[in-house]
Amino acid sequence: MSLLEAVDVSKSFGGIRALNACCVHVEEGEIVGLIGPNGSGKTTLFNVMTGYERADSGMVRMRNKPIAGSSPRAVFGLGVGRTFQLTRIFPRLTVLENAHVAAQRPNFAASLGRWSATKERTRVTELLDFVGLARLRDVPAGNLSYGQKKLLEIASILVAEPKVLLLDEPAGGINPTMIAYLSDRIRDLNHRGVTFLVVEHNMEFVMGLCNRVSVMHRGATIADGPAAEIRQNPAVLDAYLGD
Ligand SMILES: Nc1ncnc2c1ncn2[C@@H]1O[C@H](COP(=O)(O)OP(=O)(O)OP(=O)(O)O)[C@@H](O)[C@H]1O
Ligand SMILES: [Mg+2]
Repeated sequence: MSLLEAVDVSKSFGGIRALNACCVHVEEGEIVGLIGPNGSGKTTLFNVMTGYERADSGMVRMRNKPIAGSSPRAVFGLGVGRTFQLTRIFPRLTVLENAHVAAQRPNFAASLGRWSATKERTRVTELLDFVGLARLRDVPAGNLSYGQKKLLEIASILVAEPKVLLLDEPAGGINPTMIAYLSDRIRDLNHRGVTFLVVEHNMEFVMGLCNRVSVMHRGATIADGPAAEIRQNPAVLDAYLGD
């Protein structure tokens, strides 16, 4: 049984077939990369897997429990967390306030229901420390660099202790030092039991971080395997060169 899987998922927007019998699976403890040319359906798949879009057909399961058709809140309650391609933070609130706001979000509150204010404070402080933002806790989040905003977003999601975290282009637009730091944090979380599915165009980042890579092209999965194999796969090269 996979931790999280999408089986034969299709989704059209008007005449555009964003997903075409797409299959992706994530096993407990893995860091899986999801790559593919622009418009190949990666974000749409994330949206379907997290309840933000409804699939036309196919199945999404978390630990064998069907989640297609569930609300984002319900999916979150099952332990599936995600980030968005564009960061979602409140620029006028401080870093610390942003993390607390996240903890108060209704879908988080479900999993944190039994937490005391003290426990929430401890957890938020630990997480800001973990992503290297503790010293910036009183700075308005709008003043952070793009990379720091992404780290804040990740910290905010971690408040709810997801089992699997879907990251959409975490390394996009951030500098190499920050990318290395982000890789370290992801690996560290993975050692602590968090499973990852990561969409990313930065191949060095993907190849260095992921145990396994799935490749999408025109809404379907065209290859899946160890990073080193995927790199040499002619069908993958064709998909990139063709688009
Ligand atoms: N809400 C929508 N309405 C109409 N078309 C959409 C919508 N969302 C996605 N699409 C289309 O579906 C296809 C897949 O888009 P998607 O954003 O999933 O690709 P992607 O692999 O994430 O691309 P990128 O690497 O550029 O982020 C594209 O042709 C896109 O234009
Ligand atoms: Mg996308």
